[in-house]
Amino acid sequence: MADGRTRDVSPDVASRTDASRAGVSRETSAYAEWTPIAEEAARAARVLHPDRHRMPRPLQRRVLTVANQKGGVGKTTSTVNLAAALAMHGVQVLVVDLDPQGNASTALDVEHRSGTPSVYELLLGEIPLSETATRSSASDNLWCVPATIDLAGAEIELVSMVAREQRLKQALSPAALEELGVDYVLIDCPPSLGLLTVNALVAAEEVLIPIQCEYYALEGLGQLLSNIDLVRSHLNRDLHVSTILLTMYDGRTKLADQVTSEVRKHFGDTVLRTVIPRSVKVSEAPGYSKTVLGYDPGSRGAMSYVDAAREIAEAGAGRTRNGRS
Ligand SMILES: Nc1ncnc2c1ncn2[C@@H]1O[C@H](COP(=O)(O)OP(=O)(O)O)[C@@H](O)[C@H]1O
Ligand SMILES: [Mg+2]
Repeated sequence: MADGRTRDVSPDVASRTDASRAGVSRETSAYAEWTPIAEEAARAARVLHPDRHRMPRPLQRRVLTVANQKGGVGKTTSTVNLAAALAMHGVQVLVVDLDPQGNASTALDVEHRSGTPSVYELLLGEIPLSETATRSSASDNLWCVPATIDLAGAEIELVSMVAREQRLKQALSPAALEELGVDYVLIDCPPSLGLLTVNALVAAEEVLIPIQCEYYALEGLGQLLSNIDLVRSHLNRDLHVSTILLTMYDGRTKLADQVTSEVRKHFGDTVLRTVIPRSVKVSEAPGYSKTVLGYDPGSRGAMSYVDAAREIAEAGAGRTRNGRS
């Protein structure tokens, strides 16, 4: 294999690519010689023909909040691409867009003009989940509660409301989620630790923290973790950090490896083995109202999100009743 093709991926990703190449090459023996195009085609086949690669449903429904108060670390990108990967492999998923910017809604191709029934009305208790959740064009198994710009005022409006930290939890009641029939709920948080994020932390059992493999990656993480502790002790005793995902890995920099090993040293098995590489395709996809799986299924970015989703799904399949492995 040419050096150039592995240089921009982590050892983890490189070895997985080797492993998947070996696995897929058996399936596609027509490729007498392995070429970059064959590799891309094989990746696309794994993304687009999910029947052969179904992911397990969890023993019980999982609600994950995707949080990190730093902006630009890959919260939204990870939310929509993990959701699409799970959905395209047979799992029913709901994405709740809790960021007034509405970027998750855009990537999932869900209407989010001001006035559209959205997470804002859901938080206010004006409209039930069934009337705000919209099916995404990314997959028949994928639903999204969009965020409109109306949500921008919610942080302040919520302050004076009764049970202001519990609004989302109440809206995502077991009955409402049962009616929608979803196995997973992924909540995309805004880049702050305000009331919207607190609502997300109260509504979930699990926190998924994306960490960008960059300088200052760990800055502010202590604050996030102590907020999670606070919510756990006062509002939601089941809350725990179940998953850490390293994003935007650039193998050409030493720094990316340093951040990766630092995070693994700190958080151990909570960190997914799969690392998401920095890839132009990943950043281009939302511009076409698509996830990277829909935009370029043969890309490394798409494949890495499928691998990460599979790790999450497999962890969920082994979970006991209280939500922990
Ligand atoms: N793996 C990646 N490769 C390249 N660009 C990425 C990747 N992940 C995210 N980005 C880009 O980085 C920016 C921030 O990502 P985003 O998911 O919006 O972060 P957050 O939701 O944490 O603010 C976006 O422009 C996004 O397209
Ligand atoms: Mg975001």
